[in-house]
Amino acid sequence: MTTPELAPKTAPQKMVPIPPRGVDYRGKVVLAPMVRSGELPCRLLALHYGADLVWGPETVDHALIGSTRRINPRTGMLEWSRIPSNNAKAADTTESIIYRLDPRREAGKLIFQIGTSDAERAVAAARMVAADVAGIDVNAGCPKPFSTSGGMGAALLRTPDKLMGILEALVREIVPVFGIGVSVKIRLLETVEETERLVRRLVGTGITGLTVHCRTTPMRPRERAIRGQLRMVGEVCREAGVACVMNGDVEGRDAAEELIKEFGVDGAMVATAAEKNPSVFRGEAKGGKADWKEMAQQFVWYAMEAENKFGNTKFSLAHLVKGAHQLVSWTKTYEDVVKSLGMGEEALKRAIEVDNILRKPPPPPKPPKVKEKKEEIPAKRKKGSQGGWSPKSPPSPSSPLKKPRVSEDAPKSPPKAQLAVEDAIPVS
Ligand SMILES: Cc1cc2nc3c(=O)[nH]c(=O)nc-3n(C[C@H](O)[C@H](O)[C@H](O)COP(=O)(O)O)c2cc1C
Repeated sequence: MTTPELAPKTAPQKMVPIPPRGVDYRGKVVLAPMVRSGELPCRLLALHYGADLVWGPETVDHALIGSTRRINPRTGMLEWSRIPSNNAKAADTTESIIYRLDPRREAGKLIFQIGTSDAERAVAAARMVAADVAGIDVNAGCPKPFSTSGGMGAALLRTPDKLMGILEALVREIVPVFGIGVSVKIRLLETVEETERLVRRLVGTGITGLTVHCRTTPMRPRERAIRGQLRMVGEVCREAGVACVMNGDVEGRDAAEELIKEFGVDGAMVATAAEKNPSVFRGEAKGGKADWKEMAQQFVWYAMEAENKFGNTKFSLAHLVKGAHQLVSWTKTYEDVVKSLGMGEEALKRAIEVDNILRKPPPPPKPPKVKEKKEEIPAKRKKGSQGGWSPKSPPSPSSPLKKPRVSEDAPKSPPKAQLAVEDAIPVS
């Protein structure tokens, strides 16, 4: 095992080369990957307040493969979108945006995090974004069942051969072609020996960076992060020339800089503190934390620029305006939010525009109802026959019983071929 006294200054200056379009995580205080809370407007706000790099939310390889990349001509943002594969109604061809980035403001600063459990799929998905991002990160730390049940996230910590295979494949296939680095984000294992064994293997795969979330997989987010293994992880990374980023209860830039020194790591990643207040990336020397209203207004501008889904904007806004929750809790549109935050005429004009763009298209027309011949009323019903009305009281022509009756042995629904034609609704 490595000695805890080993300080960065005395360590050998070995370094896995940073590819020409890649970024070195050393000396950086970065925004963590966060599903829902790490969408484009949040990342832009973090960069606005001084985050050095931003991680996008974990995107599962399956979701990205088969999506289409295009520039949104209205906003200039790059978007990957597709028709959701679990779409029950074949006729609903509304595309979902799987990933969105700002090619100008995020250039050289965005790390794409992939959720994967398969080397081939990881490479296929990474190829789809690698030309537009500064690095590919593999999520090997998410303990949520949706991730681990597919063998992704923290499940990869228990299948190290698979994890190494994924990283080696990405290094082999992505680094030379796209000139960006590959990294991994892990959690701690139960013992220092187990973690060290894992980290030693990881740093030999050709990755340029490793983030360690200082909690074990069973630990809940509200439990304090543990630092006992951190120095060792930093040392193993340094020996191999891989940048080590610490994560877990890092409160902002100033705290990050202290922790980096104290534990001999190379960088720090902030999640929940930045979710509540992205201005934690601005140290005291540069003005410190910003006023909540300034942050909220700037955030809404970024969200409108990106045409971010209103539901997601409201979700993140709720974190930013915690003390003034009543200001946004009632809002249903960007127009409401802009008015509530007193953002002025220009913002109001943009809000109305974005609301119109995001307004859900009307549902596709329903297929025409099949007209069926009314069955003739039998003069006499067989004894014991089931249901319906009694022959003694046949419905009058004005009866509310409008449902056409079909004979008992008629199929309950039209045959498949018929359905296919009738359901073929034109799409916009
Ligand atoms: C809302 C939310 C979403 C998250 N999504 C991801 C994710 O997509 N990928 C990932 O590796 N970690 C994810 N995490 C974990 C964080 O990146 C981070 O490791 C964790 O919150 C610990 O950092 P903190 O103590 O600063 O909050 C998420 C955390 C939160 C709160």
